[in-house]
Amino acid sequence: MQQIREVVASEFDAVNTLIIEQLHSDVDLVENIGHYIVDAGGKRLRPLLALLSAGACGGINDKHIQLAAVIEFIHTATLLHDDVVDVSALRRGRPTANDKWGSAPSVLVGDFIYSRAFQMLVSIGDMGVMGLLSDTTNTIAEGEVLQLVRAGNADGDREQYFSVIQNKTAVLFAAACCGAALLSDQRNYADTLYEYGMNLGMAFQLIDDVLDYEGNPEETGKNIGDDLNEGKATLPLIYAMENGSQSESDLIRQAITEKSAANLNQVVEIVRSTGALDYTRNVAREYSGDALTALVPLKASKYHQALLDLSKLALSRSK
Ligand code: IPE
Ligand code: IPE
Ligand code: MG
Ligand code: MG
Repeated sequence: MQQIREVVASEFDAVNTLIIEQLHSDVDLVENIGHYIVDAGGKRLRPLLALLSAGACGGINDKHIQLAAVIEFIHTATLLHDDVVDVSALRRGRPTANDKWGSAPSVLVGDFIYSRAFQMLVSIGDMGVMGLLSDTTNTIAEGEVLQLVRAGNADGDREQYFSVIQNKTAVLFAAACCGAALLSDQRNYADTLYEYGMNLGMAFQLIDDVLDYEGNPEETGKNIGDDLNEGKATLPLIYAMENGSQSESDLIRQAITEKSAANLNQVVEIVRSTGALDYTRNVAREYSGDALTALVPLKASKYHQALLDLSKLALSRSK
């Protein structure tokens, strides 16, 4: 990851500076919570995608720096909201904002950061990108609601699962890549990069759903078992219910419907022994392969190469 960041090191620094500048508010609590989550770091993967996509489309300009910051703000706002909804206690290796300040401040500061992103988008002044990002945020909200409606439902509907991860996660990856193309001289690559980002985002969320069972909190900065606690029938659980013994399948079904991680150790054992985690990794590998294929039309460059490397890294990541 560090090597990939090096490809756009100075632009990446410019994005981080802009993020800090734009967090400014006269209300202390807004700045406190904003800095709390932003200063904790995170991988900054989505702004990296925007910068690399811009580079692959002929060059990174000032609007790309702004776009990258906008995308990270939208991501940050969804994390603040997501941790309230998921009742998560750990994020980026720290207690979540909702754990520290409560739900109301987290939701409201999430709104502040969301709307700041749209103020910045207006200053970029590109109707195509504005359309892309307003559709994207609307879809993310829809994805989170669909996931909420599915919580506690153990029927194992794969189509709905894939629809949730596409909406809540992959579309923002797609927008980061496609938006960069729209702000470049090579707008003809917009669809190509959308396709790349969408497939990469699917792979990324599939691996996230694996790490929710076998990640190391020291590395992911998140607790394991959050998905089980929220009754989320993610692909590892769907596969384990289909392929485990009757009693294994019943145990998982019960954990989902009761939205309880009380039997987390047993569930982890079942998703391992049934091969559900390997299976999910393989599905992620297919999406990552599709992301690679999508990049074929792009001209060779160090940015293009970094995008290729990222799609492989999405599979082997442990954080
Ligand atoms: C977390 O995203 C939310 C998901 C879509 C899984 P990241 O794993 O990119 O979070 P940070 O920004 O690095 O903390
Ligand atoms: C990530 O969903 C999607 C959004 C934040 C919109 P998750 O709930 O799986 O993300 P983590 O695991 O909390 O980071
Ligand atoms: Mg969550
Ligand atoms: Mg997760």
